[in-house]
Amino acid sequence: MTVRRSIVAGSGSYLPEKIVTNADLAKIVDTSDEWIVERSGISERRMAAEGETTSDLAVKAAEAAMSAAGVSGSDLDLIIVATTTPDETFPAVATHVQRRVGMTRGAGFDVQAVCSGFVYAVNVADNFIKAGQAGTVLVIGAETMTRLMDWSDRTTCVLFGDGAGALVFKAGEGEGTAADRGVLSSHLYSDGRLHDLLYVDGGPSTTRTTGFLRMQGKEVFKHAVTNISDSIRVALEHNGLTADEVDWFVPHQANKRILDATARKIGLAPEKVVYTVARHGNTSAASIPLAIDEAVRDGRIKQNDLVLIEAMGGGLTWGSSLIRW
Ligand code: ACO
Repeated sequence: MTVRRSIVAGSGSYLPEKIVTNADLAKIVDTSDEWIVERSGISERRMAAEGETTSDLAVKAAEAAMSAAGVSGSDLDLIIVATTTPDETFPAVATHVQRRVGMTRGAGFDVQAVCSGFVYAVNVADNFIKAGQAGTVLVIGAETMTRLMDWSDRTTCVLFGDGAGALVFKAGEGEGTAADRGVLSSHLYSDGRLHDLLYVDGGPSTTRTTGFLRMQGKEVFKHAVTNISDSIRVALEHNGLTADEVDWFVPHQANKRILDATARKIGLAPEKVVYTVARHGNTSAASIPLAIDEAVRDGRIKQNDLVLIEAMGGGLTWGSSLIRW
């Protein structure tokens, strides 16, 4: 049986130039390099320059991905940007990107699922391609999370960073088996009852301000390992695959302890996990495509490799996706 598949044609990423080390943060809040490394695995993160916006980061990642895929703006049918830190409340970051990459037809919109945004956006792109509504789709995760930080709250401001990553998907054909190249499946979840564990305390229809990120870290941690492991189990079972068959596990980079615990729980060897959290911190929806692009460019992820992505974020939202490169 021939099926339509969304096949990765290229990846790209961009990190702002400014590096903020743990020692830099210890100058503004009561923290230490030792505490941050031990509890989160983070040593440094990037911070967008004054005036540098989420769409600036998104465009740079998009251009790199489009160049790797050999496509131009006029080849794109759809742009989906996963972000929780748009330049403006509206319009969507995707429309800024559309203008700047020279795409004058098709559509662009943003997906808001916080740190799970990239997994959600991949699922949406795959459905557009499978339905025949789009043939070439640019999916971007881009964030300026440092703009949501309360710089007096040491429990959150040490964890987050800025960056962007992107993938270009093209329609192709497969046999309908797990040996096909492309997105094999995605599974998305949310539970709005868990709002208070992780949210931003502002918005256009409440405070009319942007607000600051608030998090009950310990509670989020507990939900993370369970929810993520469950969604990975569903993904593997759905495709008749085992953890051994996964070549690369590219998780949302929130905290090294969460990544280690998840890999252990699902039985994935540590050498199959792509880690960037030490250098990037938590870049929310950007973390997965940033990590993917690094592993593609250094030669780890190769054609036909089975790549597992997963994330959990505010909402709570979570999910996973299996992609054969
Ligand atoms: N520096 C020094 N001490 C600190 C800091 C800091 N930056 N932050 C908190 N502490 C203190 C606390 O005040 C507390 O002190 P107390 O014992 O005197 O009360 C102590 O350190 C321990 O705090 P805990 O919150 O219990 O520390 P924990 O081991 O849980 O680590 C952390 C905190 C890193 C936030 C962890 O809970 C975590 O990573 N949770 C998951 C968060 C996460 O991944 N969020 C993102 C997922 S969703 C998304 O990506 C948006």
